[in-house]
Amino acid sequence: ENIPLEMHKARIVQKINLQPIERRLEAIKEAGYNTFLLKNTDIFMDMLTDSGVNAMSDKQQAAMLEADDSYAGSVTFTKLEKKIKEIFGKEYFLPAHQGRACENIISQVYVKPGTIVPMNYHFTTSKAHVVLNGGTVEEIFTDEALKIDSDVPFKGNMDTGKLRDLIETNGADKIAFVRLEAGTNLIGGQPHSLENMQEIRKVCDEYGVMLVFDASLLADNLYFIKTREEQCKDISIRDITRKLADLADIIYFSARKLGCARGGGICTNSKEAYLKMRELITLYEGFLTYGGMSVREMEAMVVGLDETMDEHMINQGPQFIEYMVNELVERGVPVVTPAGGLGCHINAMEFVGHIPQEEYPAGALAAAFYLVSGVRGMERGTLSEQRDENGNEILSHMELLRLAMPRRVYSLSHVKYAVDRITWLYENRHLIGGLKFVDEPKVLRFFFGKLEST
Ligand code: F0G
Repeated sequence: ENIPLEMHKARIVQKINLQPIERRLEAIKEAGYNTFLLKNTDIFMDMLTDSGVNAMSDKQQAAMLEADDSYAGSVTFTKLEKKIKEIFGKEYFLPAHQGRACENIISQVYVKPGTIVPMNYHFTTSKAHVVLNGGTVEEIFTDEALKIDSDVPFKGNMDTGKLRDLIETNGADKIAFVRLEAGTNLIGGQPHSLENMQEIRKVCDEYGVMLVFDASLLADNLYFIKTREEQCKDISIRDITRKLADLADIIYFSARKLGCARGGGICTNSKEAYLKMRELITLYEGFLTYGGMSVREMEAMVVGLDETMDEHMINQGPQFIEYMVNELVERGVPVVTPAGGLGCHINAMEFVGHIPQEEYPAGALAAAFYLVSGVRGMERGTLSEQRDENGNEILSHMELLRLAMPRRVYSLSHVKYAVDRITWLYENRHLIGGLKFVDEPKVLRFFFGKLEST
């Protein structure tokens, strides 16, 4: 049997509760059927996200005690700047409080009204910031990207033919920048290859367009490049990271998924880009040597980035996810394949095929799954989209229930429990009904909107 092995041991633990189903029913009603609004005392396994909830190592905890606290010029920041330079090979580093803060700054500087940002796939906050600044997002994924069932190893690749056509049609001056997202979040944590990024770079060079790399999910993507890409089999994680980083003009990341539980940052070798973005850091984030982060977080990030270069650390998420995906496939439950990073993605479009997209099948499935298991997942479908200017629903390409795998947090028996409960729900899927909004915010409605059953 292919059992994923934990390459660590637990030395500090946290008690979790499994509430009776009567309480879970009350809790999901109180939350307006929106799993974002559940309280974690009502949650058994929290698979909402892998953001800010991954386990820290003993070495990270130790480093946090060393943190040197000063508003400006702390030793801690200098350490972080050095580590970023060592790992990504970028001269300039701008700290920010998290990933979307980086997106705000990059978009404010580079997205002008009428410009376009081509992406392998959008992420909710990255798209929102582009749109807020008057730009539009063009998704130029490959034909394979949206296929639920696939054995293509790099479904997150960008279609460089489409990229070239888009630039030819609109003119290079209309392209704010090209954005490549590692571990493509919204299509199921699917990676891109090094080869694909090399091709994208060529197109960017040809037309003089900037390449911005969202490295938030880099850890998983590195593992997949190492294990799935022939040209990288014998290259160290550190060297693969440098090869990727060298291809980007600007790298930004949410450290909540990469290296730490909080924070983020932007790095570049372009002094011009650095100077343009620098002013906005002090305006929105804080002084240049903390950018909204505490020194403790920065210390943890220095160690965390180093640990990300360890294959036995970054294999934990993908291997547990692969185990879960394989178990579900065996039981006939529709899931995104091949197994990606971030988490296990259930195909709600098929799971609850009787619920129309306008009634948020993935949202309904997330609520039902909480009810029958105490496990909290996240809707990634139409509910996570925003209506168009005329108030019409934008139907999502995919309707996914994402069960994120916080790294090094849950054990194999937890995963088996989740598999057992999903399988039960699949066998009883006719019990699940659709949802409608009773309170619908205009922006990022999935975060705090409330619904009821139709
Ligand atoms: N980019 C990607 C690819 C992300 O997955 C996220 C966050 C961000 C940017 C924004 O970073 O949260 O630090 O502001 N993803 C989280 C998730 C929220 O649960 O998937 P942030």
